[in-house]
Amino acid sequence: MSLVTIDQSGFDAAQGREWCVQLEKGDILYFPRTPIELDPEDISFLLGQRQTGSGLHKNIAYKPAADKLSGVEAAGDGASQRLHSILRRYSQAVEQFLGGFLLPYRAQWHLDYASFRPQEEQGRDLPLRRRNDLLHTDAFPTRPTRGARILRFFNNLHPSRTRDWVVSDPFPTIAPRYTPSQIPLPKPAGLLHAALGRLARAGGAGKAIPSLQRSPYDDFMMRFHNFLKENASFQAECPRLRIEFPPGSSWMVFTDTVPHAVLAGQYALEQTFLVDSKAMVAPEFSPLAVLESLTHSSLV
Ligand code: SIN
Ligand code: FE
Repeated sequence: MSLVTIDQSGFDAAQGREWCVQLEKGDILYFPRTPIELDPEDISFLLGQRQTGSGLHKNIAYKPAADKLSGVEAAGDGASQRLHSILRRYSQAVEQFLGGFLLPYRAQWHLDYASFRPQEEQGRDLPLRRRNDLLHTDAFPTRPTRGARILRFFNNLHPSRTRDWVVSDPFPTIAPRYTPSQIPLPKPAGLLHAALGRLARAGGAGKAIPSLQRSPYDDFMMRFHNFLKENASFQAECPRLRIEFPPGSSWMVFTDTVPHAVLAGQYALEQTFLVDSKAMVAPEFSPLAVLESLTHSSLV
């Protein structure tokens, strides 16, 4: 776990490959100044938005495939239309940037949701499994990935405050420590899973029907997310790195590999990519490879 600072603007394909390796090993790529162009008026507008209420929706989400916005309190008015167009532009800008920056992944991802996070993270009152101030690896209850990797890109929009994270050792280091003694390993994928896997691969990551797509891999990753959040000794004792991302910065990380928690901060934008497992440059570090080698079986 370490922070790789990127302050150059020129790079070549070999450099892009090296960045992919660093991400896959569990590093965070950090841009002191965001490479994403954001309109200052859009930022002011976003800073003027604050969701009240208890966090029924954790965040405001933008779904690029359907071009839909969700989680806004008063839908249909001018403000939500403006929010919609800002998030659409953000999503497109991040995808365009990463298409050049992480060349080995280009066109090998499914563009997942973008989100706007207007609430103060410190002291949020959420049920334990939904808390983001406890270290966890990401898994989505409603969007199984079948081994596709969860890559997230963030912008801290706050004009003066840092967004404060802690991160810990990546999946290949921690998973063998807790399996199978504290958390059972996944069972091998059956014939149905294998057939669905071929279907999904033929159509690219995320194309097939999600509810049929939950593989033993996805089931394990969801259980592992819950296990880490519920494990008080892991939360208290694991090695950690504290990072304060300054205003105007960006960072990206494979959040299915790197345990992370946000302790404080307000106003962030985020875009998620589900990167095809075939695009990995160092596939042996992926959670799928680690689990398949622990179980000696195919899990998707
Ligand atoms: C998370 O993915 O757990 C939240 C990170 C953040 O909002 O900074
Ligand atoms: Fe997370």
